[in-house]
Amino acid sequence: MRIGFFDSGIGGMTVLHQALKYLPNEDYIFYADTLNIPYGEKSKEEVRDYIFQAVDFMVNQGIKALVIACNTATSIAVDDLRQKYNFPILGIEPAVKPAVQSCEGKRKKVLVFATNLTLREEKFHNLVKSIDHHDIVESVALPGLVQFAENLEFREEKVVPYLKETLGSFDLQQYGTVVLGCTHFPYFENSIKELFPEEVDIISGSIGTAKNLKRILEARNQMNDGTGEIIYYKSGYKVEDKETLSSYKNLLVMLDELQLCHLNLK
Ligand code: DGL
Repeated sequence: MRIGFFDSGIGGMTVLHQALKYLPNEDYIFYADTLNIPYGEKSKEEVRDYIFQAVDFMVNQGIKALVIACNTATSIAVDDLRQKYNFPILGIEPAVKPAVQSCEGKRKKVLVFATNLTLREEKFHNLVKSIDHHDIVESVALPGLVQFAENLEFREEKVVPYLKETLGSFDLQQYGTVVLGCTHFPYFENSIKELFPEEVDIISGSIGTAKNLKRILEARNQMNDGTGEIIYYKSGYKVEDKETLSSYKNLLVMLDELQLCHLNLK
């Protein structure tokens, strides 16, 4: 059986990209809920319904595990999904803990980038409260990056001005780690890097999620002998047109070239 990957759009491919490295012999279903993106700008109730519809659809295709490759969807629905289904369900959360651990010693702050909905949610507030004992975590929503990614607009000359404007009131010199708490953001790591001191760490949870997935499948003896084949769906429709399929392929190649999101903490 296949492994399901789910996101509101192409952000989830930044996580799938890592899974392909750690689990190249699995086959995958990638589901992007492009009809309903952006989740980050919608209400919790609305997004919750979309997520359950999408996951029900994927379950009908047959999956042995599910990765919610979306921080927003994880914060809204991962607990309820686990109640409903009895196969492994992995989520992705802003990697605040390693960021705080690394910055405390350096007397630097942590800046979390995520969607508005993720940042509003209790799950995020509880996470920060449990870890951030010295008040070093700050956060900002970057919905424009989700839009840029969906428009396949990755050029620095377009992205950097948006970042500069949105981050205009922050003193970017004081941060030691930037947490990419939305799976659409790793595409822009180079543009983000440009604005911060050279030694800043930029981290996401995608490698950790991929490693966890491998560990869980191994423990359950559910590893496959597949070829890394990916079937793509957009909001319930199988993607068959060559142009879209080749743009997905190009995204994976681009991510390979960027070598993103190494958790390069000692
Ligand atoms: N990729 C999603 C995340 O990780 C959110 C994008 C959206 O707003 O739909 O949070």
